[in-house]
Amino acid sequence: DRLPALLAAMPKAELHIHIEGSLEPELIFALAQRNGVAIPYASVEELRKAYAFTNLQSFLDIYYAGASVLLKEQDFYDMTWAYLEKAAADNVVRSEIFFDPQTHTARGVAMQTVIDGLHRACTDAKAKLGVDAELILCFLRHLSEEDAFDTLEQALPFKDKFIGVGLDSSEVGHPPEKFARVFAKCRALGLHLVAHAGEEGPPAYVWSALDVLKVERIDHGVQSPKDPELVKRLAKDRIPLTVCPLSNLKLCVFPQLADHNLKALLDAGLVATVNSDDPAYFGGYMNENFLQTFAATGMTAQHAYQLARNSFEGSFAREADKRRYI
Ligand code: HPA
Ligand code: ZN
Repeated sequence: DRLPALLAAMPKAELHIHIEGSLEPELIFALAQRNGVAIPYASVEELRKAYAFTNLQSFLDIYYAGASVLLKEQDFYDMTWAYLEKAAADNVVRSEIFFDPQTHTARGVAMQTVIDGLHRACTDAKAKLGVDAELILCFLRHLSEEDAFDTLEQALPFKDKFIGVGLDSSEVGHPPEKFARVFAKCRALGLHLVAHAGEEGPPAYVWSALDVLKVERIDHGVQSPKDPELVKRLAKDRIPLTVCPLSNLKLCVFPQLADHNLKALLDAGLVATVNSDDPAYFGGYMNENFLQTFAATGMTAQHAYQLARNSFEGSFAREADKRRYI
């Protein structure tokens, strides 16, 4: 069977990776020591044992705790470089990386420290790894729209270092329309727009991400098939869905990988893609997501080519760069 080799070797774009979710337990402990930050776990093994999630919120609590060891520009660089080395090994040639500035600025870390460290790793990756990586700033939806506006203002001096904005954190109870005005401002500034919707939340949140926020892609979107009219809309407008199979498994969105609807989304003609979300927490980077999902669902080489093509079609890379792979 040559499918695993194809999945591993094919060039691909990653469109849904939270850089704070790439922080491995070993690096959390190393940075905690380097920065003199106390963490409530005695060892790497004990921390890894705490990675038993029942839903999105149970993950977010430990994910924000892990990010508390990040203080210096070099910390943000080291985290991003470690991810980009893994991306390169998985034949990821383009990566659009989410970051959560509010998680850091709320602890007194300067916006410039965060963005400079992340961006310097992206610049080095282009030269040394051949990975084309760019940044997408995410607003935390459990915080207020005013806090998001404040965050945008702090980030605008560094606008040449990120290509768009997204919306993440606790979904249910925080619908996209809560951020209508800040997304309208980002749109006027020429930033790309994406939002998490339909991970745990209802199809109505996918509709409002599209029609109120006017996003270009939906992150997750796996609840969309509950509304057949929504599936028609996603197909008609070729809205990419950045699907994260191992994340959905670990957060109990689907009971088993075999129950995942990725194959159904592709067979319905949607521009679905495979992504790692928070690979240090969910048990695998890009190729692990491809390998395990294909093994569990019976997808074929045709699906593999479609997923690779979709990842470039859905990316915000320059047209000339996209055409090299489509
Ligand atoms: N959903 C929402 N917020 C997140 C996620 C996710 O999967 N990962 C990191 N922040
Ligand atoms: Zn995500």
